[in-house]
Amino acid sequence: MEASGKDEISVEDEAVDKSIFKDCSKIAFYRRQKQQLSKNFTYRALLDSIATGKESTSFQIINEATKLPLLAEIYGIERNILRLKINEEIPLKPRYEVSDVLISKLSTVRLIPCSGDTGNLILSSEKGDLKCHITANPFKIDLESEKEVVMSINSLGQLYFEHLQIPPKQRATKENEKSTSVDTSQEDQEDLGLWEEKFGDFVDVKANGPSSIGLDFSLHGFEHVYGIPQHAESHQLKNTRNGDAYRLYNLDVYGYQIHDKMGIYGSVPYLLAHKLGRTIGIFWLNASETLVEINTEPAVEYTLTQMGPVAAKQKVRYRTDVRWISESGIIDVFVLTGPTPSDVFKQYSCLTGSQAMPPLFSLGYHQCRWNYEDEQDIRAVDTGFDEHDIPYDVIWLDIEHTEGKRYFTWDKERFPTPKRMQELLRSKKRKLVVINDPHIKVDPDYSVYTKAKEQGFFVRTHEGADFEGICWPGLSSYLDFTNPKVREWYSGLFAFPAYQGSTDILFIWNDMNEPSVFRGPEQTMQKNAIHHDNWEHRELHNIYGFYQQMATAEGLIQRSKGKERPFVLSRSFFAGSQKYGAVWTGDNTAEWNYLKISIPMLLTLSITGISFCGADVGGFIGNPEAELLVRWYQAGAYQPFFRGHATMNTKRREPWLFGKEHTQRIREAIRERYTLLPYLYSLFYQAHVASEPVMRPLWVEFPNELETFGIEDEYMLGSALLIHPVTEPEATMIDVFLPGSNEIWYDSKTSACWEGGCTMKMPVTLDTIPVFQRGGSVVPIKMAVGRSTGWMTDTPYGLRVALSTKGSAVGELYLDDGHSFQYLHQRQFLHRKLSFCSSVLTNRCADERGHFSSKCVVEQILVLGLRKEPSSVTTHSSDGKAAPVAFVYCAGTSSLSLEKLSLNIGADWEVHIQ
Ligand code: NOJ
Repeated sequence: MEASGKDEISVEDEAVDKSIFKDCSKIAFYRRQKQQLSKNFTYRALLDSIATGKESTSFQIINEATKLPLLAEIYGIERNILRLKINEEIPLKPRYEVSDVLISKLSTVRLIPCSGDTGNLILSSEKGDLKCHITANPFKIDLESEKEVVMSINSLGQLYFEHLQIPPKQRATKENEKSTSVDTSQEDQEDLGLWEEKFGDFVDVKANGPSSIGLDFSLHGFEHVYGIPQHAESHQLKNTRNGDAYRLYNLDVYGYQIHDKMGIYGSVPYLLAHKLGRTIGIFWLNASETLVEINTEPAVEYTLTQMGPVAAKQKVRYRTDVRWISESGIIDVFVLTGPTPSDVFKQYSCLTGSQAMPPLFSLGYHQCRWNYEDEQDIRAVDTGFDEHDIPYDVIWLDIEHTEGKRYFTWDKERFPTPKRMQELLRSKKRKLVVINDPHIKVDPDYSVYTKAKEQGFFVRTHEGADFEGICWPGLSSYLDFTNPKVREWYSGLFAFPAYQGSTDILFIWNDMNEPSVFRGPEQTMQKNAIHHDNWEHRELHNIYGFYQQMATAEGLIQRSKGKERPFVLSRSFFAGSQKYGAVWTGDNTAEWNYLKISIPMLLTLSITGISFCGADVGGFIGNPEAELLVRWYQAGAYQPFFRGHATMNTKRREPWLFGKEHTQRIREAIRERYTLLPYLYSLFYQAHVASEPVMRPLWVEFPNELETFGIEDEYMLGSALLIHPVTEPEATMIDVFLPGSNEIWYDSKTSACWEGGCTMKMPVTLDTIPVFQRGGSVVPIKMAVGRSTGWMTDTPYGLRVALSTKGSAVGELYLDDGHSFQYLHQRQFLHRKLSFCSSVLTNRCADERGHFSSKCVVEQILVLGLRKEPSSVTTHSSDGKAAPVAFVYCAGTSSLSLEKLSLNIGADWEVHIQ
């Protein structure tokens, strides 16, 4: 069916009224939990039911009011992680448990039951560094890590568990009615939304009735909590006492409001808490709609009697209570005990995987627009970049490139020769990304549709028909990516023979995969739609988009026979999406405050495992004035995923359309990005192998500096660069906080230096990008910029050595072919360590396992912070040969510049400064 008349789909369909989204008061399971918890039912652990298995310790907990039992299982997991699972002991039918997020079978460690007093039990890891104190009545768990009580679970008695019930209509006897954990006797059934929930014109009929769960966590001594993306909110999470809880429910919210706790495109149910000396995490593995309440109270004292003298002495000034509430599933929660930020990052990636190593081109600049009209337009834009001497790597095609929004096809009029178009891009060493959404046009002549239909690959309605909803193509069905067979089939559609007109330089963008269903409840799918294995959509809503990106990435890998790294951008995501590619912050607006909020939004994604993230440069909706666009390019150039994008009906905004001076500024920002690629690529390698976020909030690098904990207008790129994007119009002066009392910072343009631990006033013009290099770091750069990353393979390197107060510095460089999996399978890579100590700069191998030959040389070395003019500089190769080097020393900036060097990047050598 073709959408026609008032059914015509346009950009306006996205411009929805905010009232179509729920606030917490409209969420029935939230209301139910609030109401029931006020009745103060407690749970008691039956510690004599304890069973110690090979992997876990389990025991019953019983609701004192309903007498219904739950089964709790506690697992110790390698790296000081604790897992707590709570489920019904014998549910009426199995409850949904999230699969495919945890990367492999987790290595458990035995927790040994130690005798507690009566009514208590202590489970301890062998080394005794992780202890779990279980109190029977009322049930609570105190978690002790390295002799510190870091967290209590259920100490507020908010454990909540709705047992599955027989539907009222089927209940034979009054007896059954008693077996409900929700006391419905005096309540208005409809208002509690037990079996049916209304929202506007929508009625959610719940086949399984009420099934929500909840649990509280008290974080002792913690005042600063972060994480649980995605919200257009500050980096540090706010108290929710007087307003809505943070909602995790993936929704397509066009032009989302900022400083709002409503759910947008993606969800990572993972929260981090940080205080001096300790970082911890809570990963709540649940894919149904989830709410998180946060309450920080000052001056709470906490002492625990059974903990012995160390804990008893502890006085905690703050406590943050975090309450997780989910609509369905089971309680499956991981407590990550740190103690450092970097330990927590590793613990989390141990569970969900680390950032995929991106192909190098994808770290370049991406030019997108809804839409580039036709092949001619693509050619013109591509040429425009060359004519204006602006590098870029990828041009993007939005939905209009297809035949009537039928993905995997090309509009024959506008894109008659897609391969030829790609060959043109290839000749420029550039790539193409095309969009591929999860909705499939209902059309008996569209083979993707008919094949999926034949095989039963669509999500179904609860009546058993294929689910049909409206999206870009009009009436559409939605692929059920939760089915492994559907994923396998969909992956196969990216094979070159299957995807006509595609080549190996075409990569993929998954959009609208919350999933977006126009005119559906909250612009998404009915919760009672049915997925593979008969699970209701409600159980897995938040993981739908994750599965699409997973299948797409797999498809791109398969089409290259396992050889090439994929690039897939997804709008929706879940915990673990980092394994499959990049995400972005969706439909932002061309206004200054959206530029500003993009920083905390990206920081939050970064610390929850998703390093490869970005925001639409320029703002997707509306027309940015030139100044805003310039500032956005300057910010985006120093963020992990760097793409300009704009919606339909906006004015064209290719970088050269705003007058010569602004073109120059944008060119400069993009060129800076390309110069920095060796550093950025090395950071991605560290994210990939060591779980270190690429973009980092200051508190991660300076965990012992209280002043950094709330900062979100500047950030670190790796551990060496501090970026403070200008996000105010007509700025002439900005305040830059330079952390660390023992640190020294160098302005990366002027080489001027400042001591850390202070806020400095920095004059800025529209040309200024405030970037500071941390003393003690070496940043590898490229000395010249090409038309794209592909033109820069052999370009010489430069090293920016910024000396610490002690006159030393260290950095690294990672290098491989930039596109294949050879780095992994054949260990074809170079990993170099660059260190400066006692006036000698050394290039050494950082990982002997890697081998990769590169013709590239280090051509220039700039040493910042060298107080004395040297008398001579010599290079020393590993065969003992020494050679003098010409140098220029600038006393004003205490900098030494060595040029025209020719030191192979992959060889061992030293530079001696006398
Ligand atoms: C919504 C996406 O967020 C936006 O980036 C895209 O351009 C439109 N869908 C059209 O595909």
